[in-house]
Amino acid sequence: MSRFWSSVVHGLSPYVPGEQPKQDGIVKLNTNENPYPPSSQVLEAIAAATARLRLYPDPRAFVLRETIAAHYHVATEEVFVGNGSDEVLAHTFQALLRHDAPLLFPDITYSFYPVYCGLYRIRYEEMPLDSAMKVQLADYRRSCSAIVLPNPNAPTGIGLARDEVEALVAEHPDQLVVIDEAYVDFGGESAVPLIARHDNLLIVQTLSKSRALAGLRVGFAIGQRPLIEALERVKDSFNSYPLDCLAIAGAVAAIKDDAWFAETRQRIMASRQALVRELSELGFEVLPSVANFVFARHCGHRGVNLAAHLRERGVLVRHFQKPRIEDFLRISVGTEDQCGRLIAVLRDLI
Ligand SMILES: Cc1ncc(COP(=O)(O)O)c(C=O)c1O
Repeated sequence: MSRFWSSVVHGLSPYVPGEQPKQDGIVKLNTNENPYPPSSQVLEAIAAATARLRLYPDPRAFVLRETIAAHYHVATEEVFVGNGSDEVLAHTFQALLRHDAPLLFPDITYSFYPVYCGLYRIRYEEMPLDSAMKVQLADYRRSCSAIVLPNPNAPTGIGLARDEVEALVAEHPDQLVVIDEAYVDFGGESAVPLIARHDNLLIVQTLSKSRALAGLRVGFAIGQRPLIEALERVKDSFNSYPLDCLAIAGAVAAIKDDAWFAETRQRIMASRQALVRELSELGFEVLPSVANFVFARHCGHRGVNLAAHLRERGVLVRHFQKPRIEDFLRISVGTEDQCGRLIAVLRDLI
């Protein structure tokens, strides 16, 4: 604390990211990274782009937006890119979600949303998930300025069908609905095809998970042009060059490598299936996940103790000390070896 702090800084409750351990040999299943290295084409593209480091990157990242647009069958002007989807979300909160009526999101969801509300002084209400930890869309039929939902939700991993998202968007023609699809590539249904029909829908995605590029920091939003223009206006009032030239080159190569993408996500979905089976055999209740992580609890063991026990044996998972979910562990789907180590440690304990 310091007398130089503004009142805004005094009032902030910053987001706490998952631990990034310094030592080698840790089985890291705590931040939903992809356990496989990115496409070799990404590495080649980044190496080639180093020749342009002397120059500023394209402030509009046109080639990347064009590549994303072609991949998702939308117009380049319907794509916004930023420094990770966290930055895209931050600009979205600032540009499009700051109104008088409250913003709605689930009580158990990505814990950055209330942090952005604190930063930008946005009123919000949390809609409780039901007893099965599912989003009940009927709860959102109330007066609000906008709605933010991750699909699949985090940390539950439970997904909504595209029809359900469309029903929600159609029920709120005068409110923006933001769907955070950070994990959609692991078996969820993307709402991107709905963009053409709905001017009140914005989709946010990331290359951190399904493209194995958490370290490159690339995220994007897809929506109709006025929404994208709002994001560009905030971005150009904040940082003209959020994506450096290496990130732009690497992200373009990642989006283009369909073969790597298809193979890696299949592998992760297959490992998830095996992990769910093994955890269930050990007596865990595992929520039905369409993400690259599972959310699980054991009736005989407290979540905090399980997380600590795993940590002592070199396996990191995420535990949230939060009402309703304090006995759950969020476990990222790792390689077969990593999942094997997790299960072996749990088997010893349980
Ligand atoms: C639901 C959700 N949205 C967005 C993000 C941000 O991802 P990134 O900033 O790496 O794109 C995360 C990261 O874990 C997440 O869980």
